[in-house]
Amino acid sequence: MNINPDIKAEDFAEYISSQEDKGLLRFLTCGSVDDGKSTLIGRLLYDTKLIFEDQLSALERDSKRHGTVGEEMDLALLVDGLEAEREQGITIDVAYRFFATDKRKFIVADTPGHEQYTRNMATGASTADLAVLLVDARKGILTQTKRHAFIASLLGVRHVVLALNKIDLVDYSQERFEEVRAEFDQFAESFDFDSAVAIPLSARFGDNVTQRSDKLSWFNGPTLLEHLETVEAEKAVEGGPFRLPVQWVNRPNLNFRGFSGTVTGGPMRVGDEIVVANSGKTTVVDKLVTMDGELSEAPSGQAVTVTLKDEIDISRGDVLAPVNNRPDVSDQFASHVIWMSEQPMYPGRPYLLKIAGRTVSAQVTEIKHKIDVNTFKHLAGKQLELNEIAFCNVALSHPVAFDPYEANKETGSFILIDRMSNETVAAGMVWFGLRRATNVHRQALDINKAERASLKNQRPALLWFTGLSGSGKSTIANALELKLSERAKHTYVLDGDNIRHGLNKDLGFTEADRVENIRRVAETAKLFVDAGLITLVSFISPFRSERQLARSLVEAGEFYEIHVDTPLEDCAKRDPKGLYAKAKAGEIQNFTGIDSPYEAPENPEIRVSTVGRTPEDIADEIIDRLEEDGVLERALEWHI
Ligand code: ADX
Repeated sequence: MNINPDIKAEDFAEYISSQEDKGLLRFLTCGSVDDGKSTLIGRLLYDTKLIFEDQLSALERDSKRHGTVGEEMDLALLVDGLEAEREQGITIDVAYRFFATDKRKFIVADTPGHEQYTRNMATGASTADLAVLLVDARKGILTQTKRHAFIASLLGVRHVVLALNKIDLVDYSQERFEEVRAEFDQFAESFDFDSAVAIPLSARFGDNVTQRSDKLSWFNGPTLLEHLETVEAEKAVEGGPFRLPVQWVNRPNLNFRGFSGTVTGGPMRVGDEIVVANSGKTTVVDKLVTMDGELSEAPSGQAVTVTLKDEIDISRGDVLAPVNNRPDVSDQFASHVIWMSEQPMYPGRPYLLKIAGRTVSAQVTEIKHKIDVNTFKHLAGKQLELNEIAFCNVALSHPVAFDPYEANKETGSFILIDRMSNETVAAGMVWFGLRRATNVHRQALDINKAERASLKNQRPALLWFTGLSGSGKSTIANALELKLSERAKHTYVLDGDNIRHGLNKDLGFTEADRVENIRRVAETAKLFVDAGLITLVSFISPFRSERQLARSLVEAGEFYEIHVDTPLEDCAKRDPKGLYAKAKAGEIQNFTGIDSPYEAPENPEIRVSTVGRTPEDIADEIIDRLEEDGVLERALEWHI
């Protein structure tokens, strides 16, 4: 495609500022490419005459070449050719386009809608006043439409429009429109949108987008543009308590120490008494410095550098707030989660959570319920699949400052990031902090791990054996424990088969259950290490995420991932428990290596091959390594 339209935010900055006295409506379009989303946006831009002349001629040429819609211009080519912008910090493409009429200016978040439309939509919708739900008149309301309406309502979008597109393809039928409208009215009622309006249109031919159409003379409602121009959507003046998530500590020289970030929630004023939410330290705002000089008051949305009367400890990710109106600080909360990854979410699996500029480790501890987007009924669930929405409890590695999403969208929303792929996998909206977290404190103990270990004359360690069933993990762990106890080392072996008879009796072999199996044993192993023991864990532990979790629970240098790297064929040949034979005969499901995955370690501390070797020989190899690292004394020292 040879269109190279440079419609960029800067090109419009001047234009937009000349329009400043007009109201602004932010909206987004939801629907897939097939529903005509690009054509609709192209039509709005085209009809409001904001397309640069040279782009237009390129467009005409291109349409002729592509010829998808005969002699008319293909407006979709215009929008699809525009370069997508990147939302800051989130790897999701959302392009913002600007246009204006005499009455209003508009920013439309165009979320390229392919398979991952939900993820794109969640990003675009968080700032939108209105959502246009695009529906193909031939297909009517789909599950996707309902999901979009639901997400829009979760994200606090106040207005929705059902745009019944391609009305030309159903002969401009009033009957069809009324039918879809009735269904829409019914489901829109379950939300508390301020307005929910259905409008028939044809983006391709321009009927009822910006101009009325003879063919829709039976429709006495507004055109889409008229509706966008008149819907009551001016944001209520934000008068809540301010929050300043600190993005960076600005210290150009010894005489200046400022804290930079964007004010949200309400205005921040010079002289305000403030608190650092996490530490509880208080002081007073001295100056509010911006690019254009000092302010006495910084409104919500203002980027600012704050200086304070007292030197107190503040770092990136802290949240400043009024002393008398603080955000919650907790390491557990209940929230809605929109799952946006092909990889399912399993409770207990560790993710990174980013909220109000702070990143911590987090896990969903419980799915309270999933929501069926067709019926809005609550469903039970053990895992979340792509595009599913659930109400969940979330636990964090450290307390963070936050607000309920309802009170503040910035400090009340978070994303989850996969630790392995770095992909954004979920968007979340906080409902409330969990008090149980706030009321449970850590009990300080006088004897610590080092003292416990020194009584035993040893350094604690976590030796984590991972590998296929029948690879030899338990046999090697057993041989190693024997050698360690000969050296008077205090050890314990946590073995999969044994623990599944007690602590983990309730768990099976689904992926969700395996995640929980390993989470529990990792937490248990952590306690054993804290007790000063050399702890041997022998579990298949097929997933990288959970082995990473185990690693993160103990200190650096204490964790040894030991990959017992026996090829599947050899494990199946050995088949000590006859399980491979059963799995192959279809008598056992979800068998690791057969119909359930094993993610081999990428960088294990130790990798051992077992074919043609004795367990004792392998145990010696591990002992050599532990001696080398100083976890064990050298045999010589030990004999003396
Ligand atoms: S893990 O995958 O969750 O780490 P774990 O180590 O606890 O597995 O348990 C594996 C043991 O359970 C195997 O050694 C085998 O004896 C037994 N087992 C029974 N069914 C299965 C199965 N479907 N997949 C793997 N192991 C199974």
